[in-house]
Amino acid sequence: MIRLENISKVYPMGKRKLTVLNGVSVNIERGEMVAIMGPSGSGKSTMLNLIGCLDKPTSGSYYLEDKEVSRLNSGELAQVRSQKIGFVFQSFNLLPRLSALANVELGMRYAGGVDRRQAREALEKVGLADRTSHRPNELSGGEQQRVAIARALVKNPPLLLADEPTGNLDSHSGEEIIHILTSLHAEQGITLVMITHELKIARYCQRIIHFSDGQVVKEEKV
Ligand SMILES: Nc1ncnc2c1ncn2[C@@H]1O[C@H](COP(=O)(O)OP(=O)(O)O)[C@@H](O)[C@H]1O
Ligand SMILES: [Mg+2]
Repeated sequence: MIRLENISKVYPMGKRKLTVLNGVSVNIERGEMVAIMGPSGSGKSTMLNLIGCLDKPTSGSYYLEDKEVSRLNSGELAQVRSQKIGFVFQSFNLLPRLSALANVELGMRYAGGVDRRQAREALEKVGLADRTSHRPNELSGGEQQRVAIARALVKNPPLLLADEPTGNLDSHSGEEIIHILTSLHAEQGITLVMITHELKIARYCQRIIHFSDGQVVKEEKV
C-alpha cells in the first residue's frame, strides 16, 4: 500500500541545509498495523506527514496504492488526502466551539459531503453515543481523542495515520485508545501507521520501525 523509495527531506537553513530524512525506504502492506519509534527529532513526524500527503519529499519516490504521489501537485495531494487518509494527532486538533458531532461532520466536509447519521455512527463506534453534543472542553482527554478518531474514520479511509495518539493521555486513557485502534484494524482491515514513544503501545502493532537521525535503523516483527 505504501512504498517509500530512498526518500530524503532537506530544509534550507540560510547557507546550510538541514537533512531531516536521509534515504528512507519503507514498505507497508495493505492491512498492516505498524509502529514508528525513535528519539525526538529523528524525523518520525516528517515521515508520517509525507506518507499523509501533507508534505512532499525533497528527493525519492513515494507510491501510495501503486500511484506515485510524490509527483502530484498540492491540489491533487489534497484530493488523495481527503479520499484515502485519516489523521489523528497527539493534541486531538478538535475545534473548540463545535460539538463532538459537528467536529466529526467536519471530517466529511471535504470528502463528499456531510451525513449526520454516519457521523453519529462513527461516534457510537468509539463509544461516545452519549457525548455527541459535548464540546471538547466538556470531554476528557481520552474522549477528545476518541472524537478525533471518529472524525478521521467517518469517511472510511483505507489508511489511518496517528502521530503519538496516546502522547497526551494518562496510561488508562492511552490503553483505551490503543484498544479502539486495534479493534478498528482487526474489524475493518484499515492500514494503520502510528508513531509512539511507548513500547507498551507499539507492541500492539505487528511491526515496529525504529528511526534514528532521519534513517530507518531497525525493523522488528512483534
Ligand atoms: N518545517 C521545518 N523546517 C525546518 N526544520 C524542520 C521543519 N519541520 C521539522 N524540522 C526539523 O526536523 C527534525 C525532525 O523533526 P520531526 O520529524 O518532527 O521529528 P520527530 O517527530 O521524530 O520528533 C527536527 O530537528 C525539526 O526541528
Ligand atoms: Mg514528532
